[in-house]
Amino acid sequence: MLSKSSAAVVAASLPAVQAHGEAITGRFYQRMFDAHPELLDIFNRGNQATGQQKAALAAAVVAYAEHLTGGSAVPWGPVLDRIAHKHASLGITATQYPIVGRHLLAAVGEVLGDAVTPEIAAAWDEVYWLLACELIAREARLYTVAGVAEDGPVWRDWRVAEKIQETVDVVSFALVPADGGPAPTFTPGQYVSVAVDLDGRQGQQIRQYSLSGQPGADRWWITVKRVRGTAGAPDGLVSTHLHERVATGDTLRLSPPFGEVSAIGEGGPLLLVSAGIGLTPAMAALAHLAATEPERPVTLVHADRTAAAHARRHELPRLQDRLPNLSVRLWYEDATDGELAGLKAEIAAGLVDPELIPLAPGARAHLCGPVPFMAGVRSGLLRRGVPAERIAYEVFGPGMLPD
Ligand SMILES: Cc1cc2nc3c(=O)[nH]c(=O)nc-3n(C[C@H](O)[C@H](O)[C@H](O)COP(=O)(O)OP(=O)(O)OC[C@H]3O[C@@H](n4cnc5c(N)ncnc54)[C@H](O)[C@@H]3O)c2cc1C
Ligand code: HEM
Repeated sequence: MLSKSSAAVVAASLPAVQAHGEAITGRFYQRMFDAHPELLDIFNRGNQATGQQKAALAAAVVAYAEHLTGGSAVPWGPVLDRIAHKHASLGITATQYPIVGRHLLAAVGEVLGDAVTPEIAAAWDEVYWLLACELIAREARLYTVAGVAEDGPVWRDWRVAEKIQETVDVVSFALVPADGGPAPTFTPGQYVSVAVDLDGRQGQQIRQYSLSGQPGADRWWITVKRVRGTAGAPDGLVSTHLHERVATGDTLRLSPPFGEVSAIGEGGPLLLVSAGIGLTPAMAALAHLAATEPERPVTLVHADRTAAAHARRHELPRLQDRLPNLSVRLWYEDATDGELAGLKAEIAAGLVDPELIPLAPGARAHLCGPVPFMAGVRSGLLRRGVPAERIAYEVFGPGMLPD
């Protein structure tokens, strides 16, 4: 709880902090990286360049202050869970919080100038540390469950046992622990962080990839889309590296599985809706259900540009054999050559129409794909009466869907 005096000060200064949120977090990152260049290796340079991380951090701090001062009814737990899982997958430690706190509060002072009285600075310091303590506690629990020692490294070496070219732009990697130990299981929907050393002096970069194979199997699978630069933007650093530089027999550093979003829900009819590379959690869910709940009614809705761009679709007929109540609805922007021998699917041309998504009574939905796609499908499902708490989703980047 925020002290009463600080709550009043925070509420009064919130509009100014909110208005300058991204300027503050932008300045924060500059200051912090100048003082701690080693942290550049754990932050995502793509998100820094596009401003996405700046926006996510500012939004989180402001939303938390609103929550503490009673100005927001948005449930806060899911936001904290998302951040804590992401942090844990990156190996963030409690000892790093004072560094972030110091530079964040100094950035508030720099951007807002004389408006920041000692009283205001102290009140925001309190907000930061309340938030930090909640995250540190959640992250400590996640590390314990994952078997990571306190402040110990999250990284473990995995050997690439197989590399499969799925489509022109998508490859899958089968991974086994390099130490010969067992591969831990995971919940469909969970992801791992992958740390790669880039060529030359570019340092390390870390990205998350959803586990796309069957939980409990002796190998993990990740399925990676190569991000190509468009309109002058550079090619994606890590996806390009994985496509071009990592081969069978090579070693990758992976975190344990983290991620708070389950792709299978808690029983009953399941609706999996994906677009493009957002199919990875759905593929893990289908493999898991085929092994554990083969009678479960499942609808898979997938959108892609073409059938040729739809990665791992050749696995669907076999999954339908194992999941007799799996129905498949595909939308291809260009549906030429959409049919596949053995696949029982309705195939439509164009973009997904949320009104036409088959909806079983009481279904739980899991969405994964580009943010505008998920926002459109989620609104459609809400309009059609699916309660918000039955719609889970995974954003392949920082932040969450707007409410
Ligand atoms: C929970 C989670 C699960 C995920 N699961 C998967 C998965 O299963 N499969 C998968 O393929 N991906 C997945 N992702 C996405 C993945 O983590 C990476 O974001 C993706 O591979 C791109 O990383 P990159 O290093 O190749 O691109 P980055 O180098 O991070 O670039 C990202 C974008 O930023 C642009 N950019 C970079 N620098 C600049 C600049 N200076 N100016 C303008 N634009 C710039 C690039 O052009 C590109 O469009 C997941 C992400 C999350 C968060
Ligand atoms: C109270 C303090 C903090 C808050 C509110 C916070 C908030 C956030 C948020 C909102 C995200 C994006 C999560 C998502 O993917 O949706 C994030 C990611 C991240 N955080 Fe924190 N964070 C805090 C402390 C820290 C600390 C101490 C570190 C360690 C130096 C850190 C390092 C990172 C990194 C590396 C990412 C991923 C960045 C990326 O992928 O672009 N954070 N944090």
